[in-house]
Amino acid sequence: MTEAPILEIRGLSVEFRSEGAWHAAVRGVDLAIQRNQTHAIVGESGSGKSVTALAVMGLLPQQSGRIQSGSIMLEGRELIGLPEQALDKIRGKQVAMIFQEPMTALNPTMPVGQQIAEAVRAHRRCDASSAWNEAQRMLDLVRVPSAAQRMRDYPHQFSGGMRQRVMIAIALACQPRLLLADEPTTALDVTIQAQVLSLIEDLKREYGLAVMFITHNLGVVALIADCVSVMYAGEIVETASVNELFAAPKHPYTEALLASMPRVDRDGQLEPIGGIVPSIREIGAGCTFAPRCALAIERCHSMRPPLLEVAPERTVRCWVRGVAA
Ligand SMILES: Nc1ncnc2c1ncn2[C@@H]1O[C@H](COP(=O)(O)OP(=O)(O)OP(=O)(O)O)[C@@H](O)[C@H]1O
Ligand SMILES: [Mg+2]
Repeated sequence: MTEAPILEIRGLSVEFRSEGAWHAAVRGVDLAIQRNQTHAIVGESGSGKSVTALAVMGLLPQQSGRIQSGSIMLEGRELIGLPEQALDKIRGKQVAMIFQEPMTALNPTMPVGQQIAEAVRAHRRCDASSAWNEAQRMLDLVRVPSAAQRMRDYPHQFSGGMRQRVMIAIALACQPRLLLADEPTTALDVTIQAQVLSLIEDLKREYGLAVMFITHNLGVVALIADCVSVMYAGEIVETASVNELFAAPKHPYTEALLASMPRVDRDGQLEPIGGIVPSIREIGAGCTFAPRCALAIERCHSMRPPLLEVAPERTVRCWVRGVAA
């Protein structure tokens, strides 16, 4: 029997209010991540990747955002509907998140060692000196050279890559079960990017973490993901193991993404595909990709395809391609 996933999202729909009406930014997302697994989410800008992660963290804007339907189970516990206080405990204890720009998430006026130590103390009962020692161990673990000497340095004294390591140390200080990484390496140059990716990979293995890794970059996906979901206009259009996705993409959008894939050895973003992602205010009745799709048949323009299982753990949202091999 396979192990229960650490994170299991079912039928998640998230809406935002704009000009007096609610519009769905994420629709019917299904996703499961096991321990010791990195699940990448890829897709163009605005496809709903960050919104999905923010929903898991319970960090959607309170006034203008809401979860319309669905379920988010973390180690068997439903997160949707939990009071803020309970969510607060889960954030940074069972779940931690790292973002693209670590400078904005770090406190510029506090030495990094102290920031990590505070994260340790926020989640574990320990005195100041053992928290400090643990913080130093974390800084060493994320391979910041001469960690002991750097504990009293401020964020601006670190390079971008080193700041990202500090963020990862803070995220791991609480010993999370699930790490949400939203474009954590996009702002870094290629060599540093590779180092941070291999660090996340090592930590995943060492701690048996489940990792949700959000990126635009398919080269990065090829390097670190076990499993991939491709998002388009708020929906998952394909989920597959990384090998299957690259070897035999099924959804026409995935194919287009792969065709425009930058080489791994360059820091490229995806080349644009003809047409644009529809705005969340103009989602029609049919397949959201149909207006850009060369394979579209009549039905694609009038009926939304469901996510069809074409093989075990392989799903595709496409009337034309969603047939078992
Ligand atoms: N706070 C918000 N209020 C209103 N709409 C929002 C809000 N946050 C996101 N959206 C909308 O939800 C959709 C999905 O946004 P999201 O940030 O998840 O995209 P993304 O896939 O992370 O893109 P990127 O690659 O640019 O980070 C977009 O249409 C965006 O405009
Ligand atoms: Mg985003």
